[in-house]
Amino acid sequence: MGLKRTSQQIAVTNNVPVIDASRTQIRWLIRRDMDEVLSIEQGSFQFPWTEEEFLCCLRQRNCIGTVAELDHKIVGFMIYELHKSMLRILNFAVAPETCRNGVGRQMVQRLIDKLSQQRRREIVLEVRETNVPAQLFFGSNGFRAVTVLRQHYNDTCEDAYYMRYCLTEDATIPFIPHNRLSEYDAA
Ligand SMILES: CC(C)(COP(=O)(O)OP(=O)(O)OC[C@H]1O[C@@H](n2cnc3c(N)ncnc32)[C@H](O)[C@@H]1OP(=O)(O)O)[C@@H](O)C(=O)NCCC(=O)NCCS
Repeated sequence: MGLKRTSQQIAVTNNVPVIDASRTQIRWLIRRDMDEVLSIEQGSFQFPWTEEEFLCCLRQRNCIGTVAELDHKIVGFMIYELHKSMLRILNFAVAPETCRNGVGRQMVQRLIDKLSQQRRREIVLEVRETNVPAQLFFGSNGFRAVTVLRQHYNDTCEDAYYMRYCLTEDATIPFIPHNRLSEYDAA
């Protein structure tokens, strides 16, 4: 493929950075990470969370923040809630300059590793209908869109896809196919 790797984690070939994502460390998010996290947030979303929104969320007892770090630089983060039978991803991003190097996959794998047959068996999240890259990303990591949440957001009139990863095929919540066209017909 003509990719050149050096002893550094980042090599550059044809101006495309190549990162060895297996060297990513995932650890708890701490207060002094916030500037880097906010910078990734602002570079990733049209309607980014504010610092106050992050802090408000992280103050909840069941809310966890983690960062992905590569040689002391934060390259991604995820915010998720712990529920009795599932994990719910609230926010998830990889630094734009680091995307497509497998860091996001490592982060999802960390969440999947937290699931267990006895307790939390699934991971859920909502994805904007226009965010096709994220849909493809989560789809490639075993998530499936299970329903559409109509006009889910306050900032736009977009719908959300509710996506779910299940530890096993016989998940506790059955898969219910949702035909959006039939809703339009009925309207
Ligand atoms: C979506 C996101 C988290 C993916 O992170 P990432 O580190 O780039 O993902 P990975 O490199 O681990 O990709 C794993 C696989 O997902 C799929 N994928 C990831 N990004 C994709 C894209 N832009 N288009 C198509 N497929 C994509 C591919 O199958 C990819 O494997 P490949 O690179 O071998 O083809 C990242 O693009 C991001 O932060 N986007 C902005 C924020 C966002 O939308 N967050 C999700 C909110 S719900």
